[in-house]
Amino acid sequence: MRRCSSRRTRRSASDRASLAAAGHPDTLEIVTSPVTSILVLNGPNLGRLGSREPDVYGSGTLEDLGVALEETLAPGFEMDLRQTNDEATLIGWLHEAVDSSSPVILNPAAFTHYSYALRDAASLVTKAGLLLVEVHLSNPHAREEFRHTSVISAIATGVIAGFGFDSYLLALDLIQRRLG
Ligand code: DQA
Repeated sequence: MRRCSSRRTRRSASDRASLAAAGHPDTLEIVTSPVTSILVLNGPNLGRLGSREPDVYGSGTLEDLGVALEETLAPGFEMDLRQTNDEATLIGWLHEAVDSSSPVILNPAAFTHYSYALRDAASLVTKAGLLLVEVHLSNPHAREEFRHTSVISAIATGVIAGFGFDSYLLALDLIQRRLG
């Protein structure tokens, strides 16, 4: 299991407190904006990015993806990039998204094509009113026939596929524009 997280914050509470105090010496207003945490979840074999079929998935590693996502983070958002080869772990992370009201960017990898258990867990996310964007580095529809089926797409908020790392960056941008 691999994880990395980062955050872009708005102006700090103490900065805002001083500003408020400067304008209105007799009042003190501290407004804390909640940070929206976006879970970026990756399924099996995506920990091998960089060396896995670079002609299909590109030469960037999962760590490189983390850096690119971090650079796209808008103020008020944080992201948590995770990868696992284990279906149960991925399902647990989707439950966590529901419990913490976190939007999700999900690359289910090969689970896309057959995991009804993952679909049911992803469905909990969208049924809770949370955004869940299914992403793929490659365009599965332009590949082998078994990849043409996604059991996730019908319950996802939307799908972005075929743009390499940009699939994730577009999903992140979309979520930030919707929730920002
Ligand atoms: C993938 C496409 C899937 O078919 C494949 O099993 C993957 C990666 C993609 O990002 O293009 O592991 O989800």
